[in-house]
Amino acid sequence: MESIKGFKRTKYCGEVSLEDVGKEVVLTGWVDTRRDLGGIIFVDLRDRTGIVQVVFDEKMGEELLDKADSLRSEYCIGVRGVVEKRPPETINPKIKTGEVEVRAKELRIFSKSETPPFPIEEGINVNEAVRLKYRYLDLRRPDMQRNLMFRHKLYQVVRNFLSQNGFIEIETPMLTKSTPEGARDYLVPSRIFPGKFFALPQSPQLFKQLLMVAGFDRYFQIVKCFRDEDLRADRQPEFTQIDIEMSFVDVDDVIEINEKLLQTIFGEMLGIDLKLPLPRLTYKEAMERFGSDKPDTRFGMELVNLTDVAKNCEFKVFADAANKGGSVRAINAKGCAAIFSRREIDALVEYAKNFGAKGLAWIAVESDGLKSPIVKFLKEEEINEILKRLGAEVGDLLLFSADKDEIVFDVLGNIRLEIARKLNLLDKSKFNLLWVTEFPLFEYSEEEGRYVAKHHPFTSPMDEDIEFLETDPAKVRSKAYDIVLNGTEIGGGSIRIHSPEIQKRMFKALGFTEEKAQDRFGFLLEAFKFGTPPHGGIAYGFDRLCMLLLGLDSIRDTIAFPKVKDSSCPLTDAPSEVEPKQLRELHIKVDVVR
Ligand code: AMO
Ligand code: AMP
Repeated sequence: MESIKGFKRTKYCGEVSLEDVGKEVVLTGWVDTRRDLGGIIFVDLRDRTGIVQVVFDEKMGEELLDKADSLRSEYCIGVRGVVEKRPPETINPKIKTGEVEVRAKELRIFSKSETPPFPIEEGINVNEAVRLKYRYLDLRRPDMQRNLMFRHKLYQVVRNFLSQNGFIEIETPMLTKSTPEGARDYLVPSRIFPGKFFALPQSPQLFKQLLMVAGFDRYFQIVKCFRDEDLRADRQPEFTQIDIEMSFVDVDDVIEINEKLLQTIFGEMLGIDLKLPLPRLTYKEAMERFGSDKPDTRFGMELVNLTDVAKNCEFKVFADAANKGGSVRAINAKGCAAIFSRREIDALVEYAKNFGAKGLAWIAVESDGLKSPIVKFLKEEEINEILKRLGAEVGDLLLFSADKDEIVFDVLGNIRLEIARKLNLLDKSKFNLLWVTEFPLFEYSEEEGRYVAKHHPFTSPMDEDIEFLETDPAKVRSKAYDIVLNGTEIGGGSIRIHSPEIQKRMFKALGFTEEKAQDRFGFLLEAFKFGTPPHGGIAYGFDRLCMLLLGLDSIRDTIAFPKVKDSSCPLTDAPSEVEPKQLRELHIKVDVVR
């Protein structure tokens, strides 16, 4: 193996251009491919900027040619050579450096490589577990390199914008006390305090509020957060937030500066000119129109309320839902009667059951009449009214859900998305951003038998709803907002409670005793006694944002070393057992209960 001594890189591979013709360059990188044409060997040399073709020929001596002959994929090498213009017939328009090549004078082999477990090339179809076990090789692939470099640029764009707008970057502790974001905590045992634990932060929520008490006024941090929850394509146990908090603001102020941040991000990262202000929907509107608090508005297919029509109909399922506090709603899957087979419709009905539906009634509007399991129960004027409200035309498929509102929204919201997937309506080149505002302050937890905070317990109720805190908690709307991109929640935040009196009423509504509130959040309540400014903020899921901007399907592709579904790391094999000595020092005896 040769050393780097006296061998100083002068250029990156992807940056060699026509301007360098005639000049000597020193390049380093990995062998992408080697082609031996007898007496002449072509090597594609790759680094993180791209590929350039290197030519070894016998004119430069047998020794050099023999050495080039020994090269294999992924050898790490250095080349000194002269840049030449390629003859027109050999120009490769597919790569940036396709008009030039480098005629080698010297070759250094820094290290050899075993045959990699998968090809180092773009868009491979390889089991993700294997990719993640050999992540360092996976990260050599051009698409992954692009993703991480994009991510790098996104950090800079966000940091620059916030810094230029007077936000101060401040780090908050990683070893801390449980924070109230509603997921399970990752715990870290304390050596000094036997039996006590730190928690890794689910977010810097309480600390950023303390920074407002401290007078920092505008804070931000690009920060790791930890949540022990079940993973999905857009969730990781450790993920990154752009965390923001501001003082002396109300909802509109937070939204306004964040719209400018988003405009800057879209402008600088994608060259897209985001038109402001962004659309806003209240939570209620979002649910009623899209059946979701994170509506994907790249396509229509909005929900239509038919409860009043259903009230007196003969179809018991509909009439019951309509008369017992629930609703009957429907969507029009335009043209789908003409393309979905009976089997596909049955599959939709089954899919609906995943969301608690007892059924999914449908009407297929065909040229020779209506096909449907339910029209026989409906009067002609009822049918006509339904067809009219849904704007039904020949070829359309109407899908109905009747139940408690909660279920109806979830069912139709998800069916709407499922149909959009089937019809390829989810255009990744479209970026639909919108705010969802006025979230309910509480949601009822069947599991805990009480109301829990929908966002977190420091979120402020809307002024006009404060009076219902004790009498009708379900009715209280909050100053919480989410920012949604193409049906994914990329961020969320709220104006916080800064009045100790309202905070007390909030804890009471949540069923916290005074002691419990003191025990968990005493330090915050104490701080609030010392002149708390009105404040609020937001946090973005940085990985998610990156994923959507890049048009990817998984946040794992934007994270250098992500975890897999069971939260383990295939590369390091974490989590792992530890030495008995470590456990003794931590005063811990392991007795695994399964
Ligand atoms: P919230 O809990 O809504 O708010 O989180 C903010 C954003 O973080 C992203 N996110 C995740 N991304 C990847 N993996 C996860 N497991 C994960 N969980 C959340 C989402 C989400 O919108 N402290 C509050 C913010 C505030 O009130 O200012 C908070 O953490 O994109
Ligand atoms: P049934 O009378 O149960 O056979 O149902 C007749 C039709 O109504 C079937 O197409 C069911 O899928 C549908 N259906 C049943 N329950 C519901 C419901 N809660 N909401 C919407 N459609 C339903």
